[in-house]
Amino acid sequence: MQKYPQKNIWATMRTACPHIAPQQQILGDLCQENFVNDLIAHTKPQIIVHCAAITNLLYCEQNPDIAHQSHCIATEYLAKSLAKSAPNAQFVYISTDSVFDGKTGNYTETCATHPLNVYAHTKLQGEAAAQYYNKNALILRTNIFGTDSPNHASLAEWILKNLTQRTSIDGFENVCFNPLYTHTLAQTITQLTDLHASGILNAASPTIMTKYEFALCIAYALKIPASLVRPTTLDAHTLYPARPLNTTLNTQKIQTLIPPLPSLAHDVQTMMLHYIQKEQQ
Ligand SMILES: NC(=O)c1ccc[n+]([C@@H]2O[C@H](COP(=O)([O-])OP(=O)(O)OC[C@H]3O[C@@H](n4cnc5c(N)ncnc54)[C@H](OP(=O)(O)O)[C@@H]3O)[C@@H](O)[C@H]2O)c1
Repeated sequence: MQKYPQKNIWATMRTACPHIAPQQQILGDLCQENFVNDLIAHTKPQIIVHCAAITNLLYCEQNPDIAHQSHCIATEYLAKSLAKSAPNAQFVYISTDSVFDGKTGNYTETCATHPLNVYAHTKLQGEAAAQYYNKNALILRTNIFGTDSPNHASLAEWILKNLTQRTSIDGFENVCFNPLYTHTLAQTITQLTDLHASGILNAASPTIMTKYEFALCIAYALKIPASLVRPTTLDAHTLYPARPLNTTLNTQKIQTLIPPLPSLAHDVQTMMLHYIQKEQQ
């Protein structure tokens, strides 16, 4: 948020976040229509980037109604209220590469979706709600990595924590993705909203890695022996909830709109640079 001083930015969540200045936080539940209407009336946003979600797959599987409320109904309230109060304002819905079943990878924006679990199914319903209630909505299908996760250790944080403690970790060689560093996604959103882009768009790295390679990349940046990352295979049949193995997104369309995105190795290096800078403060 400090990177975009020219914009007034507020963040909404239910629980206060230690990484965001208190005056920029508005606490409330997006599943409450009154709260959403008041929020939009009070802030009069030009752009809403809707990233709130319940990202705990098991919790979503066990609480499908809450997942539906959080991903579909909250999106409906936001998209509808914004379209009504500020028809020229932009609505960006952060979706997921998990809307695909991960059997083939390299999914384009027009490939058939096939979510494997409640989280992904309700995120896909959120896409439909965004587009139905806000005709110019921008739907970004993405996967992300970064540090500073307020609620739980993200994949990158889990790798970092274990490797810095010299604890061995498993890296899956049969799971691949092309995520963006969260800072890169933020920059991408700025570029796309400047262009008033709309419709469904894959926001992903031009480079693909397996989760094993991703962990190796972090080990390399930490100058920690690669042997601490054990190559292994995820047995998809034993997973509950089910999850896709290859959710790589095709990035041809986004490349026609904005300047080239950094490679995944470069993005990992940038994250590590930010992480080390913060550790030294
Ligand atoms: N992490 C990934 O690898 C990944 C991959 C693909 C797509 N995505 C998408 O990227 C977005 C961000 O993911 P993330 O990993 O950063 O998620 P996260 O760390 O779990 O954070 C989600 C945020 O949403 C807020 N939230 C949830 N329900 C809410 C509600 N009803 N009202 C207000 N706030 C609510 C949470 O706040 P409270 O806890 O205070 O409620 C939390 O701050 C999500 O839309 C997710 O689907 C993430």
